Amino acid sequence: MTASRSSTLLLFGATGDLARRMLLPSLYGLFADGLLPDDLSVVAASRSELSDDEFREQAIEALRTHLPRDFYSEVNARRFAKRIRYQPIDVTTPEGYDELAASIDVDKGVSIFLSTAPSLFKDTIEGLERVGLAGPTVKLALEKPLGTDLASSREINDAVAAAFPEERIFRIDHYLGKETVQNLLALRFANVMFEPLWNAAHIDHVQITVAEEVGLEGRADYYDTAGAVRDMLQNHMLQLLALVAMEPPADYDPTAVREEKVKVLRALKPFTEADARRDLVLGQYGAGRMKGEDVAAYAEELGEASDTETYVALKAHVENWRWAGVPFYLRHGKRLARRKTEVVIQFKCVPHSIFAERGATTSPNELIISIQPEENIRLKVMAKTPGLDREGIRLREVPLDVTMEGAFADYRRRIAYERLLLDLIEGDPTLFVRRDEVEAQWQWIDGLRGAWKAAGIKPQQYEAGSWGPEDSAELAAGDGRTWND
Ligand code: BG6
Repeated sequence: MTASRSSTLLLFGATGDLARRMLLPSLYGLFADGLLPDDLSVVAASRSELSDDEFREQAIEALRTHLPRDFYSEVNARRFAKRIRYQPIDVTTPEGYDELAASIDVDKGVSIFLSTAPSLFKDTIEGLERVGLAGPTVKLALEKPLGTDLASSREINDAVAAAFPEERIFRIDHYLGKETVQNLLALRFANVMFEPLWNAAHIDHVQITVAEEVGLEGRADYYDTAGAVRDMLQNHMLQLLALVAMEPPADYDPTAVREEKVKVLRALKPFTEADARRDLVLGQYGAGRMKGEDVAAYAEELGEASDTETYVALKAHVENWRWAGVPFYLRHGKRLARRKTEVVIQFKCVPHSIFAERGATTSPNELIISIQPEENIRLKVMAKTPGLDREGIRLREVPLDVTMEGAFADYRRRIAYERLLLDLIEGDPTLFVRRDEVEAQWQWIDGLRGAWKAAGIKPQQYEAGSWGPEDSAELAAGDGRTWND
């Protein structure tokens, strides 16, 4: 039997933060909507010595805390919790795996989700393999961080590949589970009007912003060794870039889509030291005020001085025919003025303005795709300001607005992991990241980090609640462009 639908979902790291905040609420969402296959049993595994009932109570508590109030129902939560069994296991010792295997019908398909520290992957995979939980009916999902550079990512990928072939490995980038991120593909490839303009002949530049209000969130150990570039740019932002820049795939299937994404990632122009000096800004948040409250500096939250960046802005280039000469401005930071993830496509000016002699100026069209928290698509077009034009023609930008919440008011907004968990259970890897993609991402990031180290670039302080270091405005302004704040 080959990997397809699973009747067991085995969750390692089931008492961890991701499980409590995202995975259990997502499974509950699927269950509440009748989408969790009836025969699917969930086996939660982690180190803590808990009984089934103790784990279920913890799970219910997590659902109560993390689900929207109007969606949570105590009755449903209790019915859902009954579907979960709990298995204590120390993944680093051989004991426990036999018991785990004995309770799972491997012939009926198993999806395993490793939501543990990557340092535990190797032991876990070896343990699973030993007890027959890595065979052809078993799929394995992995959460980031998948390494800290290309070499360590290869090590992880090799360890996984020793037991699982690529088609049964599901690497998660939760941005791909977001409805609005998938909508980028629909916008580009289910409409005829954008694609002919989607290239260097008509696009001046692209901006991708992932701005967050949150700070360290108690994740000091991980975050201070990762930083903004490895935490967000390496994965989520490069995936967004790939979706914006890829060629039309022939089909919406795992090979075609991922094939096109990886080509973009491989075409990213490597950063040189000189590029880093000119086209990269790093920052770290200082103290500030957000929503009327004082907010501590990163170093204060951390308890010591650090060179870790909590902000990055840069200008990237995709070196291929479609994108020659079109800069991609990317920026991400924590403790910024407002949470927003968006893609801005700035088109070029009309080649000749017939209104110029009548005193009118034309602004270039702009397509703004807001991914979160607002979900909308806005196309700015020029219109004539009403009037008799005695003093010349006046033109003004007006937006054509599509609010996704409005257009799809009857649909519940799902957690990204709902989609990914269901795709994993059903065996569809289209929205998961292939090994060559991750490695192309790391290769570019390693080059970037090497270039900035060689150039001696250190993060600049920015005030919490601002839009980042002043130099980042300069990065765009130096080219006569402005960030869409
Ligand atoms: C995670 C990062 O991958 O994504 C976090 O580790 C970040 O630092 C989070 O806050 C952002 O996800 P989202 O879905 O809230 O945009």
